Amino acid sequence: MSSAPVAAIILAAGQGTRMKSDLPKVLHEACGRPMALWVVRAAQEAGADRIVTVIGNGADLVRESLSSEPLEFVEQTERLGTAHATQQATPLLGDFQGSVLVLAGDTPLLSGATLASLVKQQQESGAKCVLATFSLDDPTGYGRILRDGEGKVTGIVEHKDASEEQRAIKEVNPAVYCFDGPTLFRLLPQVKNDNAQGEYYLPDVISMIASEGAGLDAVHFDDADEFLGVNDRWQLAAAAGKLNQRILKSHAMNGVHIVDPHSTWIGGNVQIGAGTTILPGCFLQGKVVMGQDNMIGPHCFIRDAQIGNGCHVFMSHMNQCRITDEVRVGPFANIRPKALLEDRVKVGNYVEVKNATLHEDVSVSHLTYLGDAEIGARTNIGAGTITCNYDGFNKHITKIGQDTFVGSNSTLVAPLNIGDEAMVAAGSVVNRDVPDGAMTIGRGKQEIKEEWFKTWRKRKLEQQSTEKGR
Ligand code: UD1
Ligand code: CA
Repeated sequence: MSSAPVAAIILAAGQGTRMKSDLPKVLHEACGRPMALWVVRAAQEAGADRIVTVIGNGADLVRESLSSEPLEFVEQTERLGTAHATQQATPLLGDFQGSVLVLAGDTPLLSGATLASLVKQQQESGAKCVLATFSLDDPTGYGRILRDGEGKVTGIVEHKDASEEQRAIKEVNPAVYCFDGPTLFRLLPQVKNDNAQGEYYLPDVISMIASEGAGLDAVHFDDADEFLGVNDRWQLAAAAGKLNQRILKSHAMNGVHIVDPHSTWIGGNVQIGAGTTILPGCFLQGKVVMGQDNMIGPHCFIRDAQIGNGCHVFMSHMNQCRITDEVRVGPFANIRPKALLEDRVKVGNYVEVKNATLHEDVSVSHLTYLGDAEIGARTNIGAGTITCNYDGFNKHITKIGQDTFVGSNSTLVAPLNIGDEAMVAAGSVVNRDVPDGAMTIGRGKQEIKEEWFKTWRKRKLEQQSTEKGR
């Protein structure tokens, strides 16, 4: 059976007053992604070919923040309720022949699998709507599911409109619906706003379908977590925590050793190869692609990075950079944008690397800054080496060849070229190019003054004792 097309409408026009934020609610991030993007992903996983997002508060910002996704937008200029918001999609989806998911932009835990199951049921049964429901011990604030004596859903009543008896109902509406598109757009204009809030309620469409007599299915889900809505920052933290556990678990199931799920945070756009261990206190954010058998952590912050196989990154910071295979980083290294560390490079404690390529087997073990540089294979950079890349106006490049030895505490004043198999003597200030095979030394010449200190000290001690004797 070939399945009918699927569209989704994501309601995201609300203000989110309780977030106490200038940022529109749906743009607040959970695990490195705006909440609305999690909902978009779930809709995509459920096979939605078209996704229409209803925006209002902070419309331009929402549009811009989600511009990476193939979304269509409609603007709701006044917040007149969820049915009114859904109705704004009529010009785009009014003729759509297929299933239409209607979702809220503030439920980041919603899974693609759950939505797919609703779509499947709607298409197979031909129902006009399949509605998700779940139960809460404290259902305050939610719309309650009304059922008749035979257990059939007859409608939804909002908390504010509910009688005492209805308020005792624990089965609630998560606002996750899969409609038959033509039915939805036929009924939306009939929704009225004669209720406690003076709003056009989308759940009234459910009541209408029920009263038309046929084609309403409700699926009760036992796991309430997926439907948790976010209205304030504490709920956001709770939702992000649950999302994070879900992400960690999926990595664990793929063969990644997550040592401490309580202190490990991994965003939604991270790939990790099997056999990699993530030690406690790690944050992996943005787009991170990592191969197999790495040892990451403890205490690493890694954002937008590519990591090969067999690397060890220990208590370090990495941002917009790439390391290939068997690279050692840390402790306390700062690997900054456009750094490339090739196979078996070793970058040790208090080393900062920015816009620099370190070719294979380069060793930079301690206390060094390499910025705007290229370092040839097998070259050793001694402790305390600094590339002076900035003259106050422009950045300049330092190039060092292969098999070269840069002695400790060298100051490399760019622009500068140092050749292959060359040596920089420790403590040099180097501002002229060094040819292949040469040694350069640029420091004050050392002198030895025999007996000098012993004599000086003796004189001082004698002075001291005469002063005391007085
Ligand atoms: C809604 C449901 C309720 C359900 C609950 C689950 C209605 C009337 N009630 O209530 O049955 O139990 O969700 O969380 O639908 N929005 C707009 N434009 C508007 C109004 C809302 O875009 O004019 C958006 C909001 O930004 C939000 C979503 O629709 O993303 C839900 O709106 P909200 O006001 O939070 O509805 P609830 O009162 O929570
Ligand atoms: Ca809500």
